[in-house]
Amino acid sequence: MIRTLDALLDRTIVPGYTRAGYHLRKICWTREDPAEDALRGRTALVTGAGSGIGAATAARLAALGASTVLAVRDLGRGERARREILDAVPGAEVHLVRCDVAEPDSIDACAGALGDDFGTLDILVHNAGVLPGERAENSRGHELTLATHVLGPLRLTARLVPLLAGSGDARVVFVASGGMYAQPLPVGDPEYRRGEYRGATAYARSKRIQVAMTPLLDQRLADQRISVQSMHPGWVRTPGLISALPRFGNAIRPALRTAEQGADTTVWLTATTPAPISGHFWHDRRIRREHYLPYTRYPEEELLSLWHYCLGAAGVRAA
Ligand SMILES: NC(=O)c1ccc[n+]([C@@H]2O[C@H](COP(=O)([O-])OP(=O)(O)OC[C@H]3O[C@@H](n4cnc5c(N)ncnc54)[C@H](OP(=O)(O)O)[C@@H]3O)[C@@H](O)[C@H]2O)c1
Repeated sequence: MIRTLDALLDRTIVPGYTRAGYHLRKICWTREDPAEDALRGRTALVTGAGSGIGAATAARLAALGASTVLAVRDLGRGERARREILDAVPGAEVHLVRCDVAEPDSIDACAGALGDDFGTLDILVHNAGVLPGERAENSRGHELTLATHVLGPLRLTARLVPLLAGSGDARVVFVASGGMYAQPLPVGDPEYRRGEYRGATAYARSKRIQVAMTPLLDQRLADQRISVQSMHPGWVRTPGLISALPRFGNAIRPALRTAEQGADTTVWLTATTPAPISGHFWHDRRIRREHYLPYTRYPEEELLSLWHYCLGAAGVRAA
């Protein structure tokens, strides 16, 4: 009965992503929550950890015992988030590093600093996200949502492989979005140079790429025992949602999830044992479909072509 309801929530999308969907699905989770010290001795990095879901994810990872690094582009906001975590979790080990995930130089500097300070990295959460009002590019001429959600995470992951490979059970998670269900892969125009630019469309396209490339990155890193997942947090009351989509956010405000509820599946994916089957798209602790609309499906050659474009644009070698 609960499983049927879960499937129905998937199909209808809207209620499933709300707080009510979270509570209903929680009933049928068969695996236990991670033990209270599940991440003791492990090190985690969360991008965009200065607010919203990223801050809640970092707080929970720290509470489970992980030495947690907040990767932020604004150190002032990051320090505030760090103090809030320390207030909530006395004795937690929480560090701060500057990282603008849309900028290659900042990513390289961040990876270098982590290499100096930490021997291994066990958890990498690609959470930083943006929904721009108008088309913008990073310093290398790449469209901002592509740079933030796809190119930056690819580059950061590649630069951190030496640390992740030391873990033996490293887990990488992309915080994607169900917004991708409405968009096909932007194979012919990954930089959104054609047509009228809409931030929500750019956002959803780049989230589609995150989900589509998850199994490819997972396969690429499997030999080094680094697993890769993507997930959707649901609709979550965060500064990002309210400022990017104020009408939508305010209309469904009481139904929005808390940041902690939005962080739940990411935390579970990184902390549960044994590690969940990798290379998939998750929501509320279960693997979810990647398509509901026929026009979003793509042949493998198109995905591979886009994958190689993204690797090149991210400055990551193809093999
Ligand atoms: N809220 C939702 O309902 C929802 C739904 C689906 C998916 N998501 C995803 O969840 C993730 C977190 O979003 P949120 O809702 O928690 O929004 P948020 O509160 O705005 O958090 C996003 C964070 O990303 C950071 N960020 C943006 N661009 C960055 C960059 N270039 N380098 C480093 N950090 C950067 C922001 O930092 P600044 O403070 O410096 O701007 C902010 O701390 C995003 O990937 C979003 O797409 C959210």
